[in-house]
Amino acid sequence: MTDIQALERQILDAIAGASDEASLETVRVAALGKKGSISDLLKSLGGMGADERKAKGPVFNTLRDRVAAAIADRKRALEAAALDARLATERVDITLPVRPEPVGTVHPVSQVFEEIIAIFADLGFSIAEGPDVEYDDYNFTKLNIPPDHPARQMQATFFVARQADLSRHVLRTHTSPVQVRTMLKQAPPIRIISPGRTYRVDSDATHSPMFHQYEGLVVDEVTNLGHLKWVLEEFYKAFFEVESVELRARPSFFPFTEPSVEWDLRCDRSGGQIKFGTGNDWLELAGSGMVNPRVLENCGIDSTKYQGYAFGGGIDRLAMLKYGIPDIRSFFESDLRWLRAYGFAALDIPTLDGGLSR
Ligand code: PHE
Repeated sequence: MTDIQALERQILDAIAGASDEASLETVRVAALGKKGSISDLLKSLGGMGADERKAKGPVFNTLRDRVAAAIADRKRALEAAALDARLATERVDITLPVRPEPVGTVHPVSQVFEEIIAIFADLGFSIAEGPDVEYDDYNFTKLNIPPDHPARQMQATFFVARQADLSRHVLRTHTSPVQVRTMLKQAPPIRIISPGRTYRVDSDATHSPMFHQYEGLVVDEVTNLGHLKWVLEEFYKAFFEVESVELRARPSFFPFTEPSVEWDLRCDRSGGQIKFGTGNDWLELAGSGMVNPRVLENCGIDSTKYQGYAFGGGIDRLAMLKYGIPDIRSFFESDLRWLRAYGFAALDIPTLDGGLSR
């Protein structure tokens, strides 16, 4: 073996043995750097006679090229290995649960909110919202409940201190002011559902001072009580996840609807459990009616051209019935054991095709 071959062997071994980019760089400097062994050889060509230079020149240049190529190869391999190692340590397994142990659950009222929205969205309703602190005017007056009218006493109201201009706010006693807000800013056809918080001065096993309602409003050129009944039937069937339901209409009174109808659902309470669609009991579930033409006019809608129907009911009550919760107050006690028992898995979003409550 010539000296040159021995040198090449030695450098190539060092390249192969370099375990990271820093030690490879040391090998490169030792061979090809300014004072490197190969650089020295190339420099020595200058002091040679023409014949010797002609013989050795190609040998040295070939050596330099082979070493440079070997370093480039090794560098690429080390870079790829470094990237692999980094990817392995920075790897995120997105199939893992967010926390080792799922601790949070979805509150049954939130669950029922989502269920109601899923069902009505499928029927072509959009979602409307309004504030909890509402104008007296929207909560009452525009809904055909003038100041000092006895109908105001149907809903025990939390009043907020008068404003500087003497106007008064209330904690909304129902979701019906969202009807007003919607009609004031949107021209018919209107088809909205509005779940939200409501407040009344009342507290026992079936009443809470803060509770939840949903409101439905449809305004169009042709609407009637038959449409209303069909929509409620579709809603209760989907919500209670049963094949059929039977609704009973009872005449009622609300200042903002005329005529007004309350709806009862046929059910069976025998055996300590409630079943819908069969039985001889009736469960009161919703208030409704055709929107009073005065309300349409109060909200700038031509009542000779449009009519509408509206309905509303309690969300807490629906949640209690569907999920077997006996006392409304337990919804608001923030008892972790209760929430774990009655809560829903956080990532199970209710949908009609995927299942509402499973
Ligand atoms: N707002 C009424 C209540 O809270 C329910 C209702 C809504 C009645 C819509 C008729 C139409 O009692």
